[in-house]
Amino acid sequence: MKNKLTAIDLFSGCGGFSFGFQEAGFHILLGVDNTEIALKTFAKNHNDSKTLNLDLHLDSSIDKIVAETATNKVDVVIAGPPCQGFSLTGTRKENDERNSLFYSVFSLASKLNPKAIVIENVPGLMTLYGGKAKKEIIRLCEEMGYSCNSKILFAPDYGVPQIRKRVFFVALKKDLGEFIFPEPVFNEDNYISCEDAIGDLPDLVNDLGDNEMDYMNKAFSSYQQSMRKGSDKIWNHVGTVHTELVKSVIAQVPEGGNHKDLPLGVGDSRKFNEAWTRYHSKKPSKTIDTGHRNHFHYKWNRVPSVRENARLQSFPDKFIFLGNKTQQYRQVGNAVPPILGNVLANQLLKYIK
Ligand SMILES: C[S@@+](CC[C@H](N)C(=O)[O-])C[C@H]1O[C@@H](n2cnc3c(N)ncnc32)[C@H](O)[C@@H]1O
Repeated sequence: MKNKLTAIDLFSGCGGFSFGFQEAGFHILLGVDNTEIALKTFAKNHNDSKTLNLDLHLDSSIDKIVAETATNKVDVVIAGPPCQGFSLTGTRKENDERNSLFYSVFSLASKLNPKAIVIENVPGLMTLYGGKAKKEIIRLCEEMGYSCNSKILFAPDYGVPQIRKRVFFVALKKDLGEFIFPEPVFNEDNYISCEDAIGDLPDLVNDLGDNEMDYMNKAFSSYQQSMRKGSDKIWNHVGTVHTELVKSVIAQVPEGGNHKDLPLGVGDSRKFNEAWTRYHSKKPSKTIDTGHRNHFHYKWNRVPSVRENARLQSFPDKFIFLGNKTQQYRQVGNAVPPILGNVLANQLLKYIK
């Protein structure tokens, strides 16, 4: 671990973002979050990393992180703060939780002086408060001696089998240059599809599966092969028991369809945007969210398992989720796809190695 570049992960959740950095060769010193079960998952899947359960809106938490990392240099601070952490409408009150969540990233960086700061968020952040939120991040970076670039990345462009857009800010110490985002590797003609991603997993039709299962089918895509690397079992692949009514409704949704494709009078209990969404086998999935009610398998009349969602988020099979099913789904849905983290980490290496 000694000669490796180091990173710490704030608002780490289970650590999808930093797992991508770990796979690129970084040593992740620390994950910080206020959800204990997510930190347990983090600890299980990160090599020689510590975790701290802290409320990041408190100044005392920043001091604890500084103390925890005192014996190490920290090269990169990674963070995926909740976007409500910005409040530019009024004066910034020190004790206002919503304000300090985002500012905690900068408050910590000012003490650790990393070579780079990498922040992830929803694309809406770019236009939040008429663009002021984005300007504020750039201003804070400038003030601390960093040059900051931002870009909205579309996950399928980088090999993630899921429609997901997220904005990334990458700030580099000014003497290291200006970060150029990596070019897309895939395009609409060769995006990884749902079938490429999860088609080899047991169907869970007559058997509800288990937290730990054997591979029963052969991998038939290079994505499946790469997901299986380092794992000889399937974890977190447990089916959901639906009522006959739910099964009969979803059976009537065509691949790639949703509630709008149902016959009149069917599935009326759920009418909102994402209701009764069925994935398309030949396309990337819809954005994986933290729930497990509205999206359905492209072929089987059930919601995807945690492992299927994890595959669609580009978590390899060796990444194991802890907690009950609801907690596992939340950890998966909250995460930055590890492949996106990995692509950014590899690009960053060109500047900070
Ligand atoms: C979007 S998730 C981050 C996911 C993570 N980047 C990943 O890739 O797996 C945001 C995280 O912020 C955490 N969080 C929210 N408020 C917090 C607070 N006040 N202090 C510490 N963590 C907090 C949540 O528990 C959640 O895990």
